[in-house]
Amino acid sequence: MRKPIIAGNWKMNKTAAEAKELICALAPKVKNATCDVVVCVPFTDIALAAELTKGTNIEVGAQNIAWADSGAFTGEISAAMLKEAGATYVIIGHSERRQYFGETDKTVNARLTQALKNGLKPIVCVGEMLAEREGGKTETVCRTQVVGAFEGISAEDAAKVVIAYEPVWAIGTGKTATDEQANETIGYIRSVVKELYGERIAEGMRIQYGGSMNAKNVEGLMAQTQIDGGLIGGASLKSEDFAYIVNAAK
Ligand code: PGA
Repeated sequence: MRKPIIAGNWKMNKTAAEAKELICALAPKVKNATCDVVVCVPFTDIALAAELTKGTNIEVGAQNIAWADSGAFTGEISAAMLKEAGATYVIIGHSERRQYFGETDKTVNARLTQALKNGLKPIVCVGEMLAEREGGKTETVCRTQVVGAFEGISAEDAAKVVIAYEPVWAIGTGKTATDEQANETIGYIRSVVKELYGERIAEGMRIQYGGSMNAKNVEGLMAQTQIDGGLIGGASLKSEDFAYIVNAAK
């Protein structure tokens, strides 16, 4: 049995003051959740979010991690910095990082290696663009991204990873993949993990859906056998919406 995981991806939203407001409103609404609850906040909110969620069932994540321990990497944030600030999760390879910041399967792999080495729990994002889906390339793209991300990662470490399947055309567009599309592709991703690491790791791995997941479509998506939760962007910015999704993920 895989425990569902709902993670909010706040992206570049919420100042520290706004983060405080959101977390304080959210915590009581999700306290009886039966899934894992994570908020992936901007770097500048991590320490405060960690402080505010102490003693709650909410964990705090970052949205990126440097691949090196320290040094001349202007603008990057190291694993040690994230951990000391109180992050336990980290999103790696989000499509916005791939699109706008030159993230590749190689850098995703390097960041993933670093997160695992430092005991941070990674959420690795994969997913196809619209043209790729329309061109029948969804599976090839997801395969390449999964194989690239996990290169050189041991089975023991792979077992600690959460994958988020996020079709790029569904992110922030209000266009969700249908329940069946999401389930089918996630099932395919699981089969790739099985090829890499065998049945036990594949069946134990949590694979989320992401892309315009909200209070209206969460039940349908969560009813699918392959879908183990969600990575939620827009709908994670309002406590009512995010709490609804969390409480629907049983
Ligand atoms: P969305 O974003 O829920 O706003 O579509 C999801 C994500 O990008 O992680």
